Amino acid sequence: MIPQEFIEEVLARTDIVEIIEGRVVLKKSGQNYSGLCPFHDEKTPSFSVSQDKQFYYCFGCQASGSALKFLLEFDRMDFISAVEYLAQKAGLEVPRDRQSDDGESRKRKSLYEILDQSSAYYREGLRSHESRVRAVDYLKDRGVSGEIARDYGIGYAPPGWDNLMQKLAVSNNDRQLLIDAGMLTDHPEEQKTYDRFRDRIMFPIRDLRGRTIAFGGRVLDADAKPKYLNSPETSVFHKGRELYGLYEARKRVQKLDRLIVVEGYMDVVALAQNGVGYCVATLGTATSTDHIERMFRIVPTVFFCFDGDEAGRNAAWKALKSTIPAMEDGRSAKFLFLPDGEDPDTFIRKEGREAFETAIGSALGFTDFFFQTLEEGLDMNSAEGRAALSKLAVPLMAELPEGVFKQLIIDELSKRTGLASDRLVTASGLDQHRGGDIRHPNVARANHQRRLKLSKLAEHALLVLLRQPDVAKLLDDEDLVKLEGEPDWQVLVELVRWVQQAGEVSTMLLLSHYQDSTYFDYLRQLAEQDPMLSPDQLADEFLETLRKMLVEGDAQQKQRVIDELTAKPLSALTPVEREMLQNYGKSKP
Ligand code: GTP
Ligand code: MN
Repeated sequence: MIPQEFIEEVLARTDIVEIIEGRVVLKKSGQNYSGLCPFHDEKTPSFSVSQDKQFYYCFGCQASGSALKFLLEFDRMDFISAVEYLAQKAGLEVPRDRQSDDGESRKRKSLYEILDQSSAYYREGLRSHESRVRAVDYLKDRGVSGEIARDYGIGYAPPGWDNLMQKLAVSNNDRQLLIDAGMLTDHPEEQKTYDRFRDRIMFPIRDLRGRTIAFGGRVLDADAKPKYLNSPETSVFHKGRELYGLYEARKRVQKLDRLIVVEGYMDVVALAQNGVGYCVATLGTATSTDHIERMFRIVPTVFFCFDGDEAGRNAAWKALKSTIPAMEDGRSAKFLFLPDGEDPDTFIRKEGREAFETAIGSALGFTDFFFQTLEEGLDMNSAEGRAALSKLAVPLMAELPEGVFKQLIIDELSKRTGLASDRLVTASGLDQHRGGDIRHPNVARANHQRRLKLSKLAEHALLVLLRQPDVAKLLDDEDLVKLEGEPDWQVLVELVRWVQQAGEVSTMLLLSHYQDSTYFDYLRQLAEQDPMLSPDQLADEFLETLRKMLVEGDAQQKQRVIDELTAKPLSALTPVEREMLQNYGKSKP
């Protein structure tokens, strides 16, 4: 029903990482992303997603496929809905089947459209609804200007059970869309459907492209409950991942190089109102690693702003723990604590922008906050205290991505405990590459795996082959026979032969074929390295490397003969052998 070219176009415009990330916690690991496989039960991550190949693969259960397949399997969507979902995300209209188009004249609206119309309705409510005065007064009272209300699309859902429904649910289809978008509360068993948001200030939550995907609504009077109401999870809104104000921050700030994470909608709005336009808020949830990864993909520096009280400190520590796996080199996380009793909204309105930015300037760095918190209550002058610190710190540090930053923290721990860095490293397993590492259960034996001793050249050839398996087709049998002479190259030859007979092979497929082999771990590590060459260059590079290997191979073979001859007593050598030795400029000691 849907043309194949269209599906291909949709997939071409889809980022599989973005799709899976909203559903599985993924961590960047080399070239790929990895996480716990959603298709089988596991404790260590075997699930890998390749951004360049737009493909996922589980080393544990062999589940694999495209973004489309993922939606079919994970969300259990039917095929058409999955294509529609991806098309919607990609901003494409699914071409309509001519036959089914006939009777129906109305175009099916997307969730985005209905959410957008809802947002327009709420904005209009703030401008012209008969009961708007209370809402306008409330916002004025909180110091929100008309300009900021416009920029953040703030609106008002008037009192009453079905204003929105009356306005937008023209057909049954629209009504269903409103339900699917979370705008109506539906109780089919009681045959009751009504507006979810009533008599509330409405904050639209927008995705990076500015499309409204959900709302937060605040009550006007102090005692009404709940104070804030959010849209439920829908197919376009995943609470644990979205950040309120991200779209607006990118629009407000020319060269966005930092973000501040605050707690509430009103904090974001008040800060923007006072000239600090680079703030975002989570939606009433703790800051997750997902949130943090999203921000770090946009800016190198993320500040976390918390209240100075106990609850604020606890929330900050939780946030720090969520940043650990995201602390790649070049990224920085800072922690700011406001005076007790203040939130960013009250603080900036009282003290102004400069005071707020000064406070931001003196925020605690990751390392300081990390050690300060862990050392609380420990006597660092005693051996017990120092041992306790290392015991607390090491498991957390082990989750840091490999890099200079991790090394610096290890050095800092060493300074504080008086234990030598290398002892800390070996005693604690900090040297093992953890976290994002993909480990197949079979690879539990990774430590005593056979280490391949390949020359730099052969390793490079293998790397190119893994990157682009179809270079195998550049070789003929004669080449392979030459290569097979060298025992160290047999792996390469084996892989080349397998690809040649297997036809179209991706890196993932090649790896999965070798998942039970003793050198799987080695191959996987190689596959994550980027040779930084274009596909054409890769082909040339492969042939060039093999040519060099064969030259090197010749030299090695000669060397072996010489070594053999040198090992024998001179009297045992034939005249020809003696001559050979002389020719190579070697003489017996
Ligand atoms: P104001 O009273 O408007 O200043 O709110 P605030 O921004 O200071 O909010 P508060 O610190 O009370 O809460 C921070 C954030 O937590 C809010 O922006 C909401 O996202 C969330 N939140 C607060 N109260 C509720 C609630 O009752 N229900 C839900 N779902 N979320 C809430
Ligand atoms: Mn507040």
